[in-house]
Amino acid sequence: MTARYETQGPVAVITLDNPPVNGLGHATRLALTQGLDRANADPAVRAIVLTGAGKAFSGGADIREFGKPAALAEPNLLSVILACEHSAKPIVAAMHSVVMGGGLELAMGCHYRIAAPGCAVALPEVKLGLIPGAGGTQRLPRVLGVEAALNMIVQGDPVKSELLAQLPGQKLFDRIADSAESLLPQALALALEVADVRPLPLVRHLPCKHPSGDAYFQFARNMVKAVARNLPAPIKCVDAVEIATRSAFEEGMLREREMFINLMWTPQSRALRHLFAAERAASKIADVPDDTPKRTIAQVAMIGAGTMGGGIAMNFLNAGIPVKLLEMKQEALERGLATIRKNYEAQVKKGKLKPEKYQERMALLSTTLSYADIAQADLVIEAVFEEMGVKEKVFRELDRVCKPGAILASNTSTLDLNAIAAYTGRPQDVIGMHFFSPANVMKLLEVVRGQHTGKDVLATVMALSKKIKKTAVVSGVCDGFIGNRMIEQYARQAGFLLDEGCTPAQVDKAIEAFGFAMGPFRMGDLAGNDIGWAIRKRRYQEQPDLRYSASADRLCELGRFGQKTGAGWYDYPAGQREPVVSAVVLEMLDKHRAALGVKTRKISNEEIVQRLVYSLVNEAAHLLEEGIAARASDIDMVYITGYGFPLWRGGPMLYADSVGLFNVVGAMKRFALNPLDDAAFWQPAPLLARLVAEGKTFNNT
Ligand SMILES: NC(=O)c1ccc[n+]([C@@H]2O[C@H](COP(=O)([O-])OP(=O)(O)OC[C@H]3O[C@@H](n4cnc5c(N)ncnc54)[C@H](O)[C@@H]3O)[C@@H](O)[C@H]2O)c1
Repeated sequence: MTARYETQGPVAVITLDNPPVNGLGHATRLALTQGLDRANADPAVRAIVLTGAGKAFSGGADIREFGKPAALAEPNLLSVILACEHSAKPIVAAMHSVVMGGGLELAMGCHYRIAAPGCAVALPEVKLGLIPGAGGTQRLPRVLGVEAALNMIVQGDPVKSELLAQLPGQKLFDRIADSAESLLPQALALALEVADVRPLPLVRHLPCKHPSGDAYFQFARNMVKAVARNLPAPIKCVDAVEIATRSAFEEGMLREREMFINLMWTPQSRALRHLFAAERAASKIADVPDDTPKRTIAQVAMIGAGTMGGGIAMNFLNAGIPVKLLEMKQEALERGLATIRKNYEAQVKKGKLKPEKYQERMALLSTTLSYADIAQADLVIEAVFEEMGVKEKVFRELDRVCKPGAILASNTSTLDLNAIAAYTGRPQDVIGMHFFSPANVMKLLEVVRGQHTGKDVLATVMALSKKIKKTAVVSGVCDGFIGNRMIEQYARQAGFLLDEGCTPAQVDKAIEAFGFAMGPFRMGDLAGNDIGWAIRKRRYQEQPDLRYSASADRLCELGRFGQKTGAGWYDYPAGQREPVVSAVVLEMLDKHRAALGVKTRKISNEEIVQRLVYSLVNEAAHLLEEGIAARASDIDMVYITGYGFPLWRGGPMLYADSVGLFNVVGAMKRFALNPLDDAAFWQPAPLLARLVAEGKTFNNT
C-alpha cells in the first residue's frame, strides 16, 4: 500500500508511504484518493490530515514514471488536487523534510497547511526543462506573493520553511510546528479546530496581483534571458506567473498545462531529464549490488601536494574528513599548503565561505614527509608525477606501510592502473580516482576499476564520491579512460581542420556556438599545449600509424605553450586571459599548409561541429563495445560534468540519438572520403553500425 489510512478520534490521517520520497506515482495517487473517499464517507470523521511517512512529505512526481503513460493515468496529479479541493471535510497538509514539485502543488490544493521547521520547499521542475504542471505557477504566487514565488519557480532551488514563513502576508503555512516530533499532534489539533469552519478556504480564491506588473515582468524577463540562454523553460516560468496575475484561475491552469506539455517535447527538457536519470544510473554498477559492504573512510592521506593533490585534499576537508599531505620536501609541502589557503581565502573574500568554516577545514589538514605517518589512513590517494617509475616507488612504499584494508588510489590520467596495482601485494585494494583540474571545482570523478579491484573497494569509493559532492562514473582500464580517450580524437580532428584551412578562432567559435564552454584551442591554451605535445611524442613512438596534424608540434616548437607562457594558439598580451588572434600563429599555419601541399578550402561551421562531435561519438561507441564504459548515459555524464559539453544537449550520446544515428554514420562515411582526414578512424564503430542496422539508439530515454 503506498498510502496508509487510519483514524485518530474524529480525524482521518492519510500517510503517503512510497519510499524513498513518497513520489506521487499512480498507485500512490490512487491510494490517496481512496483515502479521501473513505474519510468523506465516514460520518465519524470530521477532518483529514495528509502527511508523508519517512524522509519526506512528498518529493513530487515519481521519477520511475517519467515520460511513461502511467504519469498521466487517472487519477493524475491535477485530478488528485481537485479531489482535495472538493473534499467536503477540511484537509490539513502536515509537511516535513521534503516538500517538492508535485508534493508542494498537492499541499497547496489542501485547505490548511502546517510545516515542521527545516522543511525543504521547492518547485524544481525548471531543472528538468519544465514548469510546474499541476497548478504550481498559479497557486504559489497566491500564497507567497508574485516576486517570491517567481524566484522560487525560476530557480528551482529548495528554500527552508522558516524563511518562507517570514515573508510578509504569506499564506503558504497556516502554522509552523514547534518541532518535527510535534508536527502530527499539532496538525491533528489544527484539524479539530477548523473541522466546522465553512466555507473551506481554497488557494485558488486568493487574489494574485502585482502593483507594477508591466515593469516587473519586463525586468524579470531580461534577468532570465541573460542567465538562461538556450533553455526555454525559465522564460515560460515568467510567462506562467504573469498569467496568474492577469487571468482568472481556471484560464491560468489551462495555459500552464499547455506550456508544460509543450516544454515536455523540447529537446532541452529531454536532455535535462536524461541527465537527471543518467546521474542516478551512473552510481549503479551491474555486479556490485547496493548492499555491498563498504569500508569506513575516516582519514585520508594525499601523496603529492601539487596542482592536483591540493585540490583533491580540499574536497575531503570540505566534507569534514581529515587529510594528511605527504611530500618529498618541506618546500613542496609549503607550496601545496599555500595554494590551499589561497583558494579558501578567495572563497572567504567572495563571501562564499565563513571564516570559521575556513579555520575548521584547515584544522583538519596536516602534513608530513614520512610514510610512517600515514600508516593508519583509510584511503591514500596518489597524485605524484605522471611517470611509472615514480608511481612504482610510491605504491611499493604504500604496500609496505599502509594498514591492511586501506584503499590505495591513483589519480593517474594515462598510466596502466593494473600495472600500478601489481606493484603491491594487494591489488584488490587498488583503484583509480581520476579527478579533473581544478579538482576542488570540477564535478567529475572517473573511478577506474582495475582488473582486481575489490567490489567493496569500488562500492566504498562510489559512496565516498557522493560525500565529496562529485559525479562519479566508472571506467575500465585503458589509455585515457573514458573522457581523455575521446577528447584525443576530438583534438585530432581539430588539428586536421587547421591543416585544411580553418583558423583556431573559427574552430573555437563554431563549437562554442554549438554550446561548448570552450573550443579546443582556447582549451589547449588554458591547460598547456605542452601536455598534448608530450602525449603525441609518446604516440609517435608507440603508434607510428596514428596520424596527427603537426601544427600543434610546430606551435610548441615556438615555445607557445598557452596562457602560462603568454602565447599559445592565441596571444595573451601582458597577463590578459582573453585570447587575441595571433598573426604569428596564422603565419605558422600558412607555412605548415604550404609544406603539406594543401589547397585550402572554406569549411562550414556545420562541418566543424559534426567532425568534432562525431569523433567523440565514434570513439565512445568503441568504449561501450569494449566495456570500458558501462552505458551510453555514463559517457554523457562524463562530457557534461568534465568537458563543458552543453548541458541542454544532454551529452554527445543523447545528441547523436537526437540527430539520428543513421545521419551520424552517413556523415562519418563522407568524412572518410576526405584524403586529409583519417579514413580508418571514420569507419563506424561496430556497435554504432549495428545500432543503425537495427534502427536503435544509444539511450532508451
Ligand atoms: N594536472 C592535471 O590537469 C591532471 C588532471 C588529472 C590527473 N592528473 C594526474 O595527477 C597526477 C599529479 O599531477 P599534477 O598536475 O598535480 O602534478 P604536479 O607536478 O603539479 O604535482 C606533483 C607533486 O607530486 C610531488 N611528488 C613527486 N614525487 C613524489 C613522491 N615520490 N612522493 C611524494 N610526492 C611526490 C611533487 O613534489 C609535486 O608537488 C599525475 O598522475 C597526473 O597525470 C593531472
